[in-house]
Amino acid sequence: MNLILLGAPGAGKGTVSKLLVEKKGMVQISTGDILRGAIKEGSDLGKKAEGFMTRGELVPDQLILDIIEEKLSKEKFPNGFILDGFPRTIPQAEGLKKIMSRLSIKINAAVDLIVDENEIVKRLSSRRTCSNSDCQAIYNVFSKPTKKEGICDHCGSPVVQRSDETEDAIKVRLNTYKEKTAPLVDYYKNEGLLKSIDANKGSDKVCESIISTIE
Ligand code: AP5
Repeated sequence: MNLILLGAPGAGKGTVSKLLVEKKGMVQISTGDILRGAIKEGSDLGKKAEGFMTRGELVPDQLILDIIEEKLSKEKFPNGFILDGFPRTIPQAEGLKKIMSRLSIKINAAVDLIVDENEIVKRLSSRRTCSNSDCQAIYNVFSKPTKKEGICDHCGSPVVQRSDETEDAIKVRLNTYKEKTAPLVDYYKNEGLLKSIDANKGSDKVCESIISTIE
């Protein structure tokens, strides 16, 4: 099963992807994680992406399409993959369609995680992320605290707030989502792939709803 996860920043795409990886053996492909890893490494990709990300803006479409094509063509996904944070614009969705056809792969569903805006702001301002770019585990001060304060349960690295979690960057990210990414809901509805999920509940329940909807 190959899935696209849609949803506003903070809707829980990363959290639910990690649960699907555990439960279903799927592979998570998070463009946000790939870009943050590239910034940490200081690679060319990271240098190109850093300014856009810190301001809360989208990285140019072609840069993202190249990352996705390379990943999908080089790796094998026996239990399927989850595209987390991609596509995010109509040109990216059109680009993905061409990549899928070149590689003879099919997307089975585009799952939209629907969360109230006040809950999103609360989740984003209380999120903590593992600073180790190979781990990037996601925590929340209220709903999923680390066992030891400030330390990742998985790898022992410090957990931090992301650089795009300032009040200004969150505003830009939410506006960018409404303007550029929300239109993908209608796009995938027209493609016959859209599945809408109420994601205001706990992440285990969200994951169960996704599994029962797609299976
Ligand atoms: P990216 O990393 O993709 O960020 P995002 O889409 O803004 O999404 P987030 O990671 O902020 O949120 P999420 O939905 O994964 O929520 P999470 O699970 O963490 O992108 C970052 C930047 O990279 C972009 O701004 C852009 O610059 C660039 N970029 C990336 N992809 C791009 C693309 N395709 N094109 C162009 N640019 C791109 O959860 C949030 C918090 O809530 C956590 O604390 C979590 O513990 C908590 N939580 C989650 N679910 C629940 C729940 N059900 N109940 C209670 N708490 C919950």
